[in-house]
Amino acid sequence: MNAAEDEDRRIALVTGAASGIGLAVVERLQAEGYQVVGADRNRDQLARLGEENPQVVWQVLDVSSEEEIDGLKQDIEDRFGCPHAVVNAAGIMQDNVPLDAMEMEEHDRIWDVNYRGSFLTCRKFGLAMSRLGRGVLINIASITALRPLPLFAYGPGKAALVAMTESLAGHLGPSSVRVNAVAPGFVLTPPIKSKIDAGLRDASDLSNSAALGRMVAPEEIAEAIAFLISDRAAAITGITLPVDAGWLAGSAWGTYGGLRFSGKE
Ligand SMILES: NC(=O)c1ccc[n+]([C@@H]2O[C@H](COP(=O)([O-])OP(=O)(O)OC[C@H]3O[C@@H](n4cnc5c(N)ncnc54)[C@H](O)[C@@H]3O)[C@@H](O)[C@H]2O)c1
Repeated sequence: MNAAEDEDRRIALVTGAASGIGLAVVERLQAEGYQVVGADRNRDQLARLGEENPQVVWQVLDVSSEEEIDGLKQDIEDRFGCPHAVVNAAGIMQDNVPLDAMEMEEHDRIWDVNYRGSFLTCRKFGLAMSRLGRGVLINIASITALRPLPLFAYGPGKAALVAMTESLAGHLGPSSVRVNAVAPGFVLTPPIKSKIDAGLRDASDLSNSAALGRMVAPEEIAEAIAFLISDRAAAITGITLPVDAGWLAGSAWGTYGGLRFSGKE
């Protein structure tokens, strides 16, 4: 299929598509009728997904490589034309290590993937969208961008994504390209689950610091992203939408003895 054969079908690129939030976004947009291109660096997982869900175009991509992003962009444009939506869900977490123990190599890798990778796709696809006068870019920030946590590379990198989202919204808005971000709270995806399983995080701590007393499902992040992409959000650009089960509302309550949940210890 090429763009000429199915002119009305909207195209979405999702990075970090092989797991967690990215995979939930792929499934959500597919259900809405998008032709989705799902890109990720995890080849094995992509091969498995290719068998399960052949309607999605699964592509190997390392977002920290400008060359690979250029190659993917060319492939998508040749096959479908410029995407209508790009969702930057590729990202890596940081271990909770003391400041003096953090390796600068790890610091730089986190910024390369989480910030630089998202900036590269926003810049390249955003400029292509602006030439057509339409399109939506979505970044995935974090509550860590909005409240300090002891994640000295991850948090500032996510705050930079918020600033980048706002800057690009101003630059691309006059061409009718919208740029927004979501800031997830704690979402039970494989990296969070493996930290809980390894005893590095406590599931009830993560839940009980949120006003709603729970973590967020990947599908709930995908729902917010689907809204921000849709024409229902046509007047919304340059925002970072927290989807956090009330973590921002509840996290400071520890100062006053913590949130009071009825029916919970
Ligand atoms: N899970 C949470 O609680 C949470 C909270 C706030 C923000 N986020 C953010 O949401 C995004 C998705 O996280 P998740 O929890 O779904 O994690 P995940 O590990 O389940 O998914 C991330 C995906 O990104 C891919 N990826 C990593 N580096 C890549 C690279 N260089 N190029 C291409 N793909 C790459 C991984 O292979 C993986 O499939 C990340 O940006 C993360 O920081 C997650």
